[in-house]
Amino acid sequence: MPAASGAAPASASAGNVIAASNEVTVLFGSQTGNCHGLAKKVAKKLEQQGVHVTLSSMADFKPNGLKKVQNLLLLVSTHGEGEPPDNAIAFYEFLHSKRAPQLDDLRYSVLALGDTSYEFFCQTGKDFDQRLEQLGGKRLAPRADCDVDFEEAASEWMNKVAETLTEASASPANTSIVSATTESAAESEYSRSNPFQAEVLENLNLNGRGSARETRHLEISLEGSNLQYEPGDSLGIYPENHPRLVDELIEAMGWTAEQLVTVKNGDQRTLREALLRNYEITVLTKPLLEQASKLTTDSRLKELLNPGREKELRAYIGGRDLLDLVQDYSLKGVPADEFVSFLRKIPGRLYSIASSSKAFPDEVHVTVRTVRYETHGRNRYGVCSSQLAERVQPGDTLPVYIQHNPNFKLPDNPDTPIIMIGPGTGVAPFRAFLGEREETGAQGKTWLFYGDQHFSTDFLYQVEWQRWLKDGVLTRMDVAFSRDTDHKVYVQHRMLEKSRDLYQWLQEGACVYVCGDENKMAHDVHAALADILEKEGGLSADEAAEYLSRMQQQKRYQRDVY
Ligand code: 2AM
Repeated sequence: MPAASGAAPASASAGNVIAASNEVTVLFGSQTGNCHGLAKKVAKKLEQQGVHVTLSSMADFKPNGLKKVQNLLLLVSTHGEGEPPDNAIAFYEFLHSKRAPQLDDLRYSVLALGDTSYEFFCQTGKDFDQRLEQLGGKRLAPRADCDVDFEEAASEWMNKVAETLTEASASPANTSIVSATTESAAESEYSRSNPFQAEVLENLNLNGRGSARETRHLEISLEGSNLQYEPGDSLGIYPENHPRLVDELIEAMGWTAEQLVTVKNGDQRTLREALLRNYEITVLTKPLLEQASKLTTDSRLKELLNPGREKELRAYIGGRDLLDLVQDYSLKGVPADEFVSFLRKIPGRLYSIASSSKAFPDEVHVTVRTVRYETHGRNRYGVCSSQLAERVQPGDTLPVYIQHNPNFKLPDNPDTPIIMIGPGTGVAPFRAFLGEREETGAQGKTWLFYGDQHFSTDFLYQVEWQRWLKDGVLTRMDVAFSRDTDHKVYVQHRMLEKSRDLYQWLQEGACVYVCGDENKMAHDVHAALADILEKEGGLSADEAAEYLSRMQQQKRYQRDVY
């Protein structure tokens, strides 16, 4: 990571205040890359105003350097149940430990990303903000807490910090703009806020007949978009809500499908179209319930929002959608325009890319498991996955964008061995990794752990792994089919069976990649890695934990989990 803290001739001579305001450290902690993207954006903006920017991931930043920082912008997302993203953990722990320095000269501001449908909304950002204040820091702008649809709030925050910083520096003629960001060459005009209408080329079910699961393999054309991606990146897809749910909602509210409403960008659309494409109707959030409580005479909704009833509120929100809400709390009759004005914009869904663009130029492939289940007395469908499974054919188009993920990248050195752990759809990025290693002729050893329910129906991309094994692109593969035997066998059991070899690979400098379910699988795999280090390396539990966190810091242990 290039540090831009070097000499600053023009500004340094202009006095302390200016020098101080003219140097800013931007730190980000990012799981899916959103904070990284925003950090780059704010860095660029400040550089254009003559500010010297040091931009760094929290993982790469030496925490002792904090004492010298006078202006700090900290951008961080919140993960899972209020946890910091992987590349923020070490810095978070340092700052919350007794080793954290006093920071009386520090001016700072926090941008927090989160999701209001989670109880611990923006928790990591809030923690950092509070801790920096405790350590003596002064806010140069208030913290911004952003929901899923973060663009507007993030850009307001950027304007505010840029204004404060440049006001103080009185903007001297500055000739020494230090670029700390490395922009990729040709940037596409398409992005999260301006998605590309991409044609679907192929849409297959990878599971065999009789499987309990359905997993779609989609091949999508990026031709003409100039969108670039690398293995480990994700594809964002803006989905459409289920037409049946939309129609039921319209009926339950007594609305008319064809009436016009104004959507967020000011355009007019029919209500049905807006509910299909513009608004999120499958997730309930506390802010939404608060708005709805003002529109109903049913006092139970207000009561549910009372302090002390958080647990009930969480239980109600979980797994329910807008149709439940309007039926349960007599919202029928509220005018459509008013109602949709406080719905969230439908967010894009991110899928780990399953193709190497070197192997499939101008295409992108994704692996999507169809989510269908029943809860609270009704059949429910994953918005995007059920659309892809039921209502998207080759020839149709989908609004897509690329979400870069610098936290899940092949090692720079093609000779470095890699261990890939990806049960279920978690295997997707490893198809991209191996495709890339094949195309580039990389020589490093590769080892894949894969698992799913049944060998005969659920072995995703079986033929491709077998070909790669034969060609030597894939050195080893271990599989765990959990429902073919009396007792469950999971990927971590296979890892433990092969603990000696796995430890040997780690000693040789192998990088470890885990993709898939976060709460159960990734957690158990982490524990298995620690066990292996203890058993084969003779480490204590503490030492094994330390070893893994060092690997994480060195980017030798990366996770793409959800
Ligand atoms: P199961 O469905 O039989 O429980 C992909 O979803 C595979 O991951 C399935 O075989 C699934 O098994 C398995 N799986 C479920 N929980 C897991 C865990 N905690 N660790 C690893 N694999 C798990």
